[in-house]
Amino acid sequence: MVDSEAQKIWMDGQLVDGANAKIHVLSHTFHYGVGVFEGIRGYETPSGVAIFRLRDHVKRLMASARIYHLPIPYTEDQIVDAIVETQAANGIAPSYIRPIVYRGEPALGVKNLKGRVSLAIGVIPAKKYLGESSEAGVRAKISPFRKPHSDAIPSFAKADGNYINSYLAGADASKDGYDEAILLDQNGFVAEGTGENIFLVRGGTIYTPGPEADILLGITRNSVIQVARDLEFPVVEKLLSVNELLTADEAFFSGTYAEVAPIREVSHYVLGDGKVGPVTREILTTFNKIVRGQHPRYAEWLHPVPPASAPTKPAARAGRRSAA
Ligand SMILES: Cc1ncc(COP(=O)(O)O)c(C=O)c1O
Repeated sequence: MVDSEAQKIWMDGQLVDGANAKIHVLSHTFHYGVGVFEGIRGYETPSGVAIFRLRDHVKRLMASARIYHLPIPYTEDQIVDAIVETQAANGIAPSYIRPIVYRGEPALGVKNLKGRVSLAIGVIPAKKYLGESSEAGVRAKISPFRKPHSDAIPSFAKADGNYINSYLAGADASKDGYDEAILLDQNGFVAEGTGENIFLVRGGTIYTPGPEADILLGITRNSVIQVARDLEFPVVEKLLSVNELLTADEAFFSGTYAEVAPIREVSHYVLGDGKVGPVTREILTTFNKIVRGQHPRYAEWLHPVPPASAPTKPAARAGRRSAA
């Protein structure tokens, strides 16, 4: 059990104790949900701790911030360095790393665009989002709560406020005894889980919804598509009906926190024989090797973290706001 008070949190250029990592209760982000964040994983590999697709997560963080008028006062390289520094300082592995961009000063008024934009980074021990036995298959419920259309809330951005929708769907599924919810889009097509993308397998072909289903374009989703194609499975991105989901041979979730999680049941419909299917098994096994540095072909997806005692680059240490 990690003492969250003793953890080191990176806040605007300083590593501070968790107990001192505070924001004002009247902050804009706290009241209106206008913040953006990332979820990133650190893994133990044969050559030390490595962070999975770190630069891709930082790029997405910056894209999310742009649409919400949150000018991050750090460059991409500075954010990468700060995340590596925070991971090293906490010495937790496997880890779940959470950078968040927010307005933390008192600033009420929903269209208030003033106030300093801050970056904080925390690291916690990684768990399985869908439970420690999720690799044996999870049960998911089709949610009565649908995804908002991207014309209302852009789904490509990982924004704090998006997660009240995920929360409603997730709470409903949990109260009904399911491990996860599957949300449909406004037209009734399959979209995604509360914190994962979804894949179906039908007749040996892998299907997944595309951006037109108002999904977050997951970095794990992108990895799975690439790995599946490398394994010579056909992968098709298209709108998927509920009927296609309920009668799929196999299905699985993908996400940073959930990793690859087979789905064995959807709203009381058992998929296939209710066990982890062969296509899902192959993707899952390959993914688990890749993230742990056991698959040289994908080595470039792993960003090494030097041990804490090693000096970090000066850019990641002081207050260093860029001119941006
Ligand atoms: C709503 C939603 N969809 C999909 C994903 C999967 O994205 P990624 O694989 O980048 O973690 C996440 C997690 O970030 C999410 O919150």
